[in-house]
Amino acid sequence: MWGTATSSHQVEGGNTNNQWHAWEQASKVERGEVSGLAADWWGGRWREDFDRAAEAGQNAHRFSIEWSRIQPTADRWDDEALDHYVQMAKGALARGLQPVVTLHHFTHPLWLDELGGWEYEGTPALFEAYTRRVVSALKEHVSLWCTINEPNILVVVGYVVAYFPPQVTDIGRAFSVAHNLLRAHAASYHAIHEIQPGARVGLAHHYRGIKPARPGHPLDRLLARIQSRFFNDFFVDGVATGKLRLLQHSARVPQARGTQDYFGLNYYTEDEVRFAWRPAEAFGARAFRQDAEVSPHNFMANEPLGFRRALLWANRYGLPIIVTENGAEDERDDFRRRYLLLQVQQLWRLVNVNTPIEVYFHWSLVDNFEWDRGWQQRFGLWELDIETQARRKRTSANLYAAICQSNGFSTELVQQYAPDVFDEMFPV
Ligand code: FCB
Repeated sequence: MWGTATSSHQVEGGNTNNQWHAWEQASKVERGEVSGLAADWWGGRWREDFDRAAEAGQNAHRFSIEWSRIQPTADRWDDEALDHYVQMAKGALARGLQPVVTLHHFTHPLWLDELGGWEYEGTPALFEAYTRRVVSALKEHVSLWCTINEPNILVVVGYVVAYFPPQVTDIGRAFSVAHNLLRAHAASYHAIHEIQPGARVGLAHHYRGIKPARPGHPLDRLLARIQSRFFNDFFVDGVATGKLRLLQHSARVPQARGTQDYFGLNYYTEDEVRFAWRPAEAFGARAFRQDAEVSPHNFMANEPLGFRRALLWANRYGLPIIVTENGAEDERDDFRRRYLLLQVQQLWRLVNVNTPIEVYFHWSLVDNFEWDRGWQQRFGLWELDIETQARRKRTSANLYAAICQSNGFSTELVQQYAPDVFDEMFPV
């Protein structure tokens, strides 16, 4: 299947009851931007965007539920809000789009934030109650669930490198968040299977490639391994084994062991790491490969072999793979065309040797609110004018439509949309 992915806070608009809204109000986002009306999906524009996706040959869509709308206060459930998502799931199916629904994509209600958010040890039970509510309402229309988007980003970006709220650097707190996320995922997984035995449940793991800058250099190799384990492996291994380890911290969560029916992979880019005698920077300077092509805001490098490595890493877990996100920020839409074709070529290579890759979700359908980077970074196949809500189709939407419709790509397609990567894709 071929689709696109979105998340509630990034597209809905009018979400004023979660911790990201509070963060935006405190002018923490670059240039002081706010999500505002976003792509106005709460106002109903998901319908026209789903039409676009279906007309462009897509047959799946991954979207998320906004917890703060379903449970606006600790003791109140909003059934009307729940119905909004039932309509979306039905609307997706009616257009031939298989819905994949994420229960938590970075945002949680303000009342929960006041209790400590993911640091609060009662949060896993609250997440389970929320899961039960949502799954009971949507189970007739949704059979693929994603519990939590990118737990390692929540842990590392919120509590170690500190770009996301609550923007602290504290390994002890980071570990308690990881521990609660793992407990919450496990509780949610078991609850979904109890309510809907035939459902398939997983998470979206973010994998960032980290390679030695000098492959023959032992210290570069060692550093790359340490950094990759720290960032990429701890949560995934927690789910696989029921044992969570982060630096000096560890915990057993036996009920989490084996709680994924597919492996959800989010991949964007890859870094190189080079040993340097700089203890303050953990002895390693990370950078994009020197001759890699980088996106307009320097956010990512086009590293298709990094995608291959990410897929091979995911495949170690022996599960069917769903690429839950892959895409590029590029308002000019030329980087994206090269990126898309080169990444899809790596998918094709692995599918050819029977790697069980089931779905590819491109991030994203339409431009949306890009977290701490606000509206600067544009990931949509459709461009969004946030003042007028007008959409404009980018060339990549046509390219992706051709891929979806033919379930592949051809030399002609590459010639037409990205002739400058032709020789790289088809060397003589
Ligand atoms: C991922 C997030 C997604 C989007 C993309 C660009 O880490 O899951 O919401 O911001 O990055």
